[in-house]
Amino acid sequence: MCGIVGYVGGRPALSIVLDGLRRLEYRGYDSAGVAIVDDGVVLTEKKAGKLANLEKALAERSGDNIASGTTAIGHTRWATHGGPTDRNAHPHLSADGRVAVIHNGIIENFSRLRAELEATGVEFASDTDTECAAHLLAAEVRALREAGAAAGPQLLAEAMRRTVRRLEGAFTLLAIDVDVPDAVVAARRNSPLVVGRGDGENFLASDVSAFIEHTREAIELGQDQVVLITPAGIEITGFDGEPATGKEFHIDWDAKAAEKGGYDYFMLKEIADQPDAIADTLLGRLSDRGEIVLDEVRLTDQDLRDVDKVFIVACGTSYHAGMVAKYAIEHWTRIPCEVELASEFRYRDPILDRSTLVITISQSGETMDTLMALRHAKEQKARVLAICNTNGSTIPRESDAVLYTHGGPEIAVASTKAFLTQLVACYLIGLHLAQIRGVMYADEVAAVVEKLQSTPDSLRTLLGQMEDVRALARDLKTATTVLFIGRHVGYPVALEGALKLKELAYMHAEGFAAGELKHGPISLIDEGTPVVCVVPSPAGRGVIRDKVVSNIQEVRARGARTIVIAEEGDESVRAYADHLIPVPKTPTLLAPLMTTVPLQILACEIAAARGLDVDQPRNLAKSVTVE
Ligand code: F6R
Repeated sequence: MCGIVGYVGGRPALSIVLDGLRRLEYRGYDSAGVAIVDDGVVLTEKKAGKLANLEKALAERSGDNIASGTTAIGHTRWATHGGPTDRNAHPHLSADGRVAVIHNGIIENFSRLRAELEATGVEFASDTDTECAAHLLAAEVRALREAGAAAGPQLLAEAMRRTVRRLEGAFTLLAIDVDVPDAVVAARRNSPLVVGRGDGENFLASDVSAFIEHTREAIELGQDQVVLITPAGIEITGFDGEPATGKEFHIDWDAKAAEKGGYDYFMLKEIADQPDAIADTLLGRLSDRGEIVLDEVRLTDQDLRDVDKVFIVACGTSYHAGMVAKYAIEHWTRIPCEVELASEFRYRDPILDRSTLVITISQSGETMDTLMALRHAKEQKARVLAICNTNGSTIPRESDAVLYTHGGPEIAVASTKAFLTQLVACYLIGLHLAQIRGVMYADEVAAVVEKLQSTPDSLRTLLGQMEDVRALARDLKTATTVLFIGRHVGYPVALEGALKLKELAYMHAEGFAAGELKHGPISLIDEGTPVVCVVPSPAGRGVIRDKVVSNIQEVRARGARTIVIAEEGDESVRAYADHLIPVPKTPTLLAPLMTTVPLQILACEIAAARGLDVDQPRNLAKSVTVE
């Protein structure tokens, strides 16, 4: 987790780094800090809590040049080792105060390293694993100096390489050294790091949104690489010192896309962005002949014909997208499809081989559980196809193939537009598999895609009709429990609705397969308990719809206050609905693209009505790069 930024160039670094941290605050916001090299000293400021606390402390500071130094590193933290306090906030200094380090990830052998350092007399000033790296780096700098090496950027880079060779785990480290005022050195293993190439200045960050207003030219660092940035250049080596190259790319995201665009919260903006996000994800992926075109997937048609089992692995909301995908993929392709939480999959012994297609789904492309599941799958020779929203992130890079969702940057911690675009990507993969295996023909695929292509318009209509949902949210803000039920693809939607409410409004919320209610959960229903019921379309899945309607009657008979999401025109549910939320008509398998949206708005508005931080709920981070 954690957001990191580094800058070296000719401009005052502090404001550039703080701007970058503001854009990265979604990665963690337990504490924040900066370090700047100026005139023979490393100046630091760090504070527990949100970035605003750090900014206040900096504003009150006087008597030094912290605002004018031109080399800086900054950090926003999601705590792993050591509580979220001032003393555990990054940067961490070496004992002599000459080196400052920030870190994203976990140094797994830190207890051993700490004991070793303490045995040599080093006193630790924090409870973090990161501090080890600061002391080790300073010791390597000293050792190289004593061996006669000249102080300078190259010495600092070599000291970093020696340091990281001693570390185990996942880390991105950035460091500055008082003797090297015009350089930032960084290292990367299993944690994200990108370099921004400027003119007479260069940047480092966890992701490009931190420097997008300064440069569009970026380099994605590879695994086990060290990079040295100075105003004049960027030098990359492996941990062994061999020259290396990163992957250069141009950032085509609009900087405005990373801003709120007039909405009170990023989440509301991202919900409103969903029609465009879906349209962008579909763009160019259907040929004139009605075929799905997934050229970028990099698996041959023969590879895909050989697939005899699909395994989907993901976490949280992305896992719910995978659950929906199972219904579509099995129905369209007749290939068995399993879905599993990445954190469970990776410690199990799943039966996989070369004919298994493992699909990972991840918005960030950095989720550690999913990354480890992908490696586990590759070890067993399965082919891995990533569905991802973040270009150049680790999961797609390590996969055999990738299908990018074009959702644009998702800043709010709670995932919304990423979910809907993941669904679209899953549908495209299912249709493509069905088409090349001859289970569905071009005209059938084209008919489903035509429906998919009309979802942005339907969604725009739906988004224009959410006033009742907002009013309902204000009414539900004092509820203690909200239950969600659904069947078939409505079941993952119920789980997603409950997850959103838990994470944003800190309320007890649970999703159930509606048929399971009678096996236990129905005893939770009390007089007035709100139960959100996701009703399938009467067309096509009439039997399932009728079963859900029976379930609604069952909960209502026990006192539940029913909130029913049903297709517009399905008047027969009105009699059982205390609140009816109509959604546009959509084929059953595609219905989650509609039915999820009122649940996103409900959770967002309940959280806002409860006075909570919608975009940055407590204890969470956007990119979960620890296990
Ligand atoms: C919930 C949410 C999380 C993520 C999960 C996986 O709103 O955002 O449950 O879906 O942490 O993240 P990615 O998709 O980045 O792998």
